Amino acid sequence: MHAAIVLIGSALLVAYVSGAPSANVKEIVQNVSKKCAAETKASPDQAKIVLSKNIPKDDAERCFLQCVYTGVGVIKDGKFSEEGGKKLVALRFHDAKEKELANKLIATCAKEIKAKDGEKCSLGRAVRECFVNHGKQVNFFPSA
Ligand SMILES: *[C@@H]1O[C@H](CO)[C@@H](O)[C@H](O)[C@H]1NC(C)=O
Repeated sequence: MHAAIVLIGSALLVAYVSGAPSANVKEIVQNVSKKCAAETKASPDQAKIVLSKNIPKDDAERCFLQCVYTGVGVIKDGKFSEEGGKKLVALRFHDAKEKELANKLIATCAKEIKAKDGEKCSLGRAVRECFVNHGKQVNFFPSA
């Protein structure tokens, strides 16, 4: 009896952590990207930068990325948000090892990322740069 309840409990937990949340992140990223493309007037081609590991090369790409990072909570009030980053990690990753790597990345980027005067949407570039430089194994935005 007891064992059966534990088993059902575990099965539900596994279904929960391996199912819906990851699909949600994908959906959130898709929705936020769509909204940001409209808002920043990024072309479909420019919007592809979300799922790449490219460093944005102009205002349009930087501002689009900054909008997406803001939409998913990694940027808040014009700053990198360690809290928002950790929330995204919790939603995105289920494997303990992946979570640990991703949380380390967030902590590193929280220290490293600063907005730069005189560069429009500099946080869009700074966040992408930090993720690329320190998070090669961390894939925040699922494309499949
Ligand atoms: C994404 O947008 C679709 C269509 O507007 C909506 O049904 C869905 O709930 C949204 N998903 C999230 C996670 O916001």
